[in-house]
Amino acid sequence: TEFISVSELANLMDVSFAEVISKCMGLGIMVSINQRLDAEVIELVASEFGFDVEFIDMEKQLEMEEEEDVDNEEDLQFRSPIVTIMGHVDHGKTSLLDYIRNASVVAGEAGGITQHIGAYQVKLPGGKDITFLDTPGHEAFTAMRARGAKVTDIAVIVIAADDAIMPQTREAISHAQAAGVPMIFAINKIDKDGANPQKIYEQLAQMNLLVEAWGGKFQSQEISAKQGLNIDLLLEKILLEAEILDLKANPNREASGTIIEATLDKGRGYVATILVQNGTLRAGDLVVSGQHFGRVKAMMNERNKRVNEAPPSTPVLILGLNGAPQAGETFKVYADEAEAKDIANRRAQILREQGMRAKKHITLDEIGRRL
Ligand code: GTP
Ligand code: MG
Repeated sequence: TEFISVSELANLMDVSFAEVISKCMGLGIMVSINQRLDAEVIELVASEFGFDVEFIDMEKQLEMEEEEDVDNEEDLQFRSPIVTIMGHVDHGKTSLLDYIRNASVVAGEAGGITQHIGAYQVKLPGGKDITFLDTPGHEAFTAMRARGAKVTDIAVIVIAADDAIMPQTREAISHAQAAGVPMIFAINKIDKDGANPQKIYEQLAQMNLLVEAWGGKFQSQEISAKQGLNIDLLLEKILLEAEILDLKANPNREASGTIIEATLDKGRGYVATILVQNGTLRAGDLVVSGQHFGRVKAMMNERNKRVNEAPPSTPVLILGLNGAPQAGETFKVYADEAEAKDIANRRAQILREQGMRAKKHITLDEIGRRL
């Protein structure tokens, strides 16, 4: 395995690369400035300069440093459920969300197709909140799951009653099952001629998914997203499921959570939609996500209104990161700026090295001067 280049080694030892090259030549090794060296040569050359070499598995070390400090039971408080709406193309996911938050997303979207994963929090008449994620197809959900992010508490599977269980319906169901997320079936478009919910229940039964009306455990609700029919009942079922799950978080700590999406905006710089899952995020907080970091310059809710605080289960758009983390990447707030930068830089280094296909994720991290 090759670890670092001649110039990087020279930097670490604070000598010129020419000195390193000439030492190598003295040892009978011909190298160029950008050539990467294996462990044996690094040790040999370093010892010529009076250094001991220690190889540290940086990824492991980072993981260990990042081990979650767990919250005390008495610090935990109720948090709102985070719900993902999934289902086949055109079965009515956006229409459902749109009705729920009583805004006009469908009309505003190019071609009526969801462009991004969106995240919205809605306040229900009873005073409770639900956070919704709207996914285009399931790419975002898949990307997040691939990255090990668990963002969803409950999956609402939208199925058009005038259609059938379609490939993306199956996919959504298997994603939810694989992630261990409880499902609620929303049988949509019951206002349409030819709507046949019974046929859908039957198809679900064939997949071993029995809805409550059929004696099974899955909640389901017949709705019309377009006419706003029975949506209140669906929301009640979501809240019931949330109650069973007993969702909690500690609002009185530094925030952590997951990146929903991030892009570079011409006017505003890097813009990230994030979901706070624990703690409370505040304007001015120092956020690290993957190899990127930055202070939260501004924070907006889903209606583009400035907010100063985002408690657990709140989606917000933040400005101030120095890059665009990938969807599904986690983030964390750090109190100490030096520590935050150090973590981000080390992650960047790990990524660079993985990019160079270093076989093992071991890095020359530190050279201690021999006494
Ligand atoms: P993608 O984002 O493209 O996957 O679609 P979607 O699942 O978000 O579906 P969308 O909400 O865009 O709805 C697709 C079409 O079905 C639109 O023309 C809606 O007006 C229509 N539609 C959605 N819900 C209903 C409903 O309850 N009844 C009727 N009649 N039409 C509906
Ligand atoms: Mg949509």
